Amino acid sequence: MAYLALAADVRAGLTAESKTLPAKWFYDERGSLLFDEITRLPEYYPTRAERAALQNCAPAVAGACPAETLIELGSGTSDKTRLLLSALRAGGTLHSFVPFDVDPTVLASATLALEAAFPGLSVRPVVGDFERDLQLLPRQGRRLIAFLGSTIGNFEPPARATFLRSLREVLAPGDGLLLGTDLVKSPDRLVAAYDDSAGVTAAFNRNVLEVLRRELGADVDPVDFDHVAVWDEQQQWMEMRLRARNDLRIAIPALDLTVQFARGEHVRTEVSAKFTRERVHRELAEAGLTLDQWWSDPKGDVGLSLSFPATS
Ligand code: SAH
Ligand code: TRP
Repeated sequence: MAYLALAADVRAGLTAESKTLPAKWFYDERGSLLFDEITRLPEYYPTRAERAALQNCAPAVAGACPAETLIELGSGTSDKTRLLLSALRAGGTLHSFVPFDVDPTVLASATLALEAAFPGLSVRPVVGDFERDLQLLPRQGRRLIAFLGSTIGNFEPPARATFLRSLREVLAPGDGLLLGTDLVKSPDRLVAAYDDSAGVTAAFNRNVLEVLRRELGADVDPVDFDHVAVWDEQQQWMEMRLRARNDLRIAIPALDLTVQFARGEHVRTEVSAKFTRERVHRELAEAGLTLDQWWSDPKGDVGLSLSFPATS
């Protein structure tokens, strides 16, 4: 774990007027396992919907972008990605797969599983932070970059714009971007997807506190915080928070810092923006990317867009 980055993020986030903790620190080994469990929850529709969309569109994606290298950002288990790998292989161009993730443990197990499932495919995992380390991506041959799971929604709008522009900069002519975005829908379904009845999402959210405990020595007890998930209509995002059940003082020795929480005060841990096709189109265009094709699942729950660097 990138200790200095964690320390800096936690200091900045917990001393701010409105407390925040950035999302990427959810994903240590336990966090990645909990997220994988989330993807199988009855309430969490995005993974199933994106798989259904990929089932339909993977051959068309491979046809429009016959890549030698598939790069996947925030790859996690790369489970749905198998549909893309199969389609690109059937097209005969695919040579290597580069899963890129901040969590080395999930990368290691995904790499073993994919090597077994796709004999002869060169799987070359990269551990990194996609907000800082895109220069670590291989440059040879035609590349397709996949960014699935609506992880793009976990950026706030300014960071999202910066990220899309930095992706545009690493794309060469002919390289493509396949982007998965969750779409706006009824708040009931959205809230259920982020506050499931089995409490897995609550455990996932609280896991960031376990990371603070282990990595920074914070004397925080995760049961002192409630999981909260709310739909923000104005921002068009789901917001995840941890809310203090009592007045709390949390010492973080590694930062030489004590943080106070009043009962009911919350720390924002994650946003998950929901999109429309128009918004995806516009934000891609603003980053210098031209939307080429758009697909959805049969229920219209999520969108997948294939875009290419704009030519002029
Ligand atoms: N793509 C998978 C997993 C989505 S969960 C799917 O669609 O199901 C988000 C993934 O992004 C996790 O595996 C997490 O470890 C990774 N991640 C989160 N922030 C990251 C960052 N800043 N850099 C690289 N990977 C990140
Ligand atoms: N990219 C996922 C999403 O926005 C991440 C996620 C799912 C998540 N459930 C969560 C993040 C709960 C924080 C809390 O859907």
